[in-house]
Amino acid sequence: MATEHQHAPGPAGQPLGHELGRPNRFGGNDSRTRILGISSGKGGVGKSSVTVNVAVSLARAGHQVGILDADVYGYSVPLMLGLTEAPVIDDNKILPPEAYGISCISMGFFVGEDQPVMWRGPMLHKALEQFLVDVAWGDLDFLVIDMPPGTGDVALSMGQYLPRSEVFVVTTPQPAAQRVAQKTAYMARKLNLTLRGVIENMSWFTGDDGHRYELFGAGGGESLAQSLGVPLIGQVPLVTAVREGGDRGVPVTVSDPDGEASRAFAEVASKIVEMGPTRIYRSELRVNPV
Ligand SMILES: Nc1ncnc2c1ncn2[C@@H]1O[C@H](COP(=O)(O)OP(=O)(O)O)[C@@H](O)[C@H]1O
Ligand SMILES: [Mg+2]
Repeated sequence: MATEHQHAPGPAGQPLGHELGRPNRFGGNDSRTRILGISSGKGGVGKSSVTVNVAVSLARAGHQVGILDADVYGYSVPLMLGLTEAPVIDDNKILPPEAYGISCISMGFFVGEDQPVMWRGPMLHKALEQFLVDVAWGDLDFLVIDMPPGTGDVALSMGQYLPRSEVFVVTTPQPAAQRVAQKTAYMARKLNLTLRGVIENMSWFTGDDGHRYELFGAGGGESLAQSLGVPLIGQVPLVTAVREGGDRGVPVTVSDPDGEASRAFAEVASKIVEMGPTRIYRSELRVNPV
């Protein structure tokens, strides 16, 4: 399952992130932290819900987990985790607020609510760098990144700062969504990000009669996975508690860990653990996962 890629290193052969003279601990090949980029072709498919609930599932399984909410246009992770306090700055380090055992940094902490921000590529690039080098993340097993929909500047910066990123594409089951997701996936690959899998969300709704209703069609996740040559690592049902949990800041995986959706999220998390980190091959040296 190892994916082979050539990654363009930054100056002096280092992954970028050193411009401020501080090391980017996540960029190097010796970092033990797996970077999971959660992406989608468009908004509203459940990217943030997947980010939060997979992160909670990983934390529940005993892993140290952080979330970097990089969706500048639609940051929603703090709300979904019930976090309202801005991060504390201590000794030039940003201390990430914590909820349910997960440390979280969001673009949303740094811009006022209702304040429109036109993020340009270089600003985003700097912000991402700061979140990697100036945040006291601790010793993480996983850093889960909620990426903005589509591809663009954040994906480009991740390719440079975090060459070991593993990208998971979230899609809904209908063919139209799948085509949009596919474009994103191709772009991610172009930017040297390694695609690891597809997660289908809103796959079905289980009625009171126990029947599974496929409200948004069926098969989109599987066919996207096939066309990208990566596994479909999970199908998450449409469950009211997922939305309610997001709205009230208590993820469904916390409030109802044995429910249908929570089991699906937990399965995604355990598959991610099982598949292990990607192996990256540079031209001159071979790097094994730790
Ligand atoms: N499996 C699901 N079941 C029910 N509601 C869901 C599910 N996944 C997402 N939602 C809801 O759909 C909306 C969009 O999800 P969100 O995670 O914010 O998507 P994105 O981050 O892709 O824009 C939210 O209100 C969320 O609570
Ligand atoms: Mg979102």
